[in-house]
Amino acid sequence: MGYNIAIDGPAGAGKSTVAKKIAEKKQFIYVDTGAMYRAMALYFLKNGIRGEEEEKISATCKDADITIRYVDGEQVVFLNGENVNGMIRTQEVGNMASVTSPNPDVRKKLVELQQQLAKNADVVMDGRDIGTCVLPDADVKVYLTAGSGVRAKRRYEELLAKGMECDLEQIEKEIIERDERDMNREISPLRQADDAVLVDSSGMTIEEVVEKIIGLCDETC
Ligand code: DC
Repeated sequence: MGYNIAIDGPAGAGKSTVAKKIAEKKQFIYVDTGAMYRAMALYFLKNGIRGEEEEKISATCKDADITIRYVDGEQVVFLNGENVNGMIRTQEVGNMASVTSPNPDVRKKLVELQQQLAKNADVVMDGRDIGTCVLPDADVKVYLTAGSGVRAKRRYEELLAKGMECDLEQIEKEIIERDERDMNREISPLRQADDAVLVDSSGMTIEEVVEKIIGLCDETC
């Protein structure tokens, strides 16, 4: 068994930034599960499937071969053999991932892949249901959150830095809608696991959050 760190929380809480840094410092593998739901969502969009077409989603997800490889320490997601890292970071794909991820067939397929990745390796994995469902026995569980205004501002700056056009108010509206959906779905809703440590990053720097989580690891080693 590897050493497993699970980080869950709402959109824009800083999960991936923090998880990547922890992985670097501890020489762990970083598993970004949101990227897998995003790759799946991209496949539905490419096939002209709409979010409400449950049966088509269940049937079509079986044809989506999603694999993960690591190139220079970076997670690269392949969708039917194609590197889709450059296509999955848009608001459109993120919203579609939130709409289609409640589907049980989508979840079953991706959770299996995630558990496989964590089986024999030291991993830091982030998502919505890692501490509650994917890795219930993780060594360290963190629920990372921040106020919706702070999270929207971070997403906005991230998209701007990539040269994407965006609107702060629209982003905050979408973040709130996304949280609503992710927290209120029937299967594996986003919630803090009973044994997870709550970290509110609103007034913290990235480094402070990283140090806090590494401190939690040191306590359990
Ligand atoms: O973390 P992210 O923004 O890349 O995730 C995109 C969507 O994927 C998110 O709104 C809900 C879904 N998701 C999920 O249901 N379970 C996970 N473990 C990770 C993401």
